[in-house]
Amino acid sequence: MPQITYVLPDGREETVDVPTGQSVMDGSVRNNLPGIVAECGGSCSCATCHVFVDPEAASLFDEPIDEEVDLVEFLEGACDRSRLSCQLIVSDACAGVRVVVPATNG
Ligand code: FES
Repeated sequence: MPQITYVLPDGREETVDVPTGQSVMDGSVRNNLPGIVAECGGSCSCATCHVFVDPEAASLFDEPIDEEVDLVEFLEGACDRSRLSCQLIVSDACAGVRVVVPATNG
């Protein structure tokens, strides 16, 4: 099962198993990690699951859909590494991916 590392808002790092087919958001919520609020439960409408992903890691996930692009555009602190973690579906290729969770999710 792929492991994903979350750099938490306080700087700590947590590495957890995330089953393939689940999202990076799911991996955080199911392990009670702080920082990813996921108010809408993953339906790409709240943007409280914002994370930063390096370009090499971002290429392992699907491109953002229009709804995600629109939400990220208005997020505080967003940059070209911003993604909504509920839209990042984990595959075996994602083993070892590291995401940074901002302190501004909720
Ligand atoms: S959980 Fe709401 S947009 Fe990702």
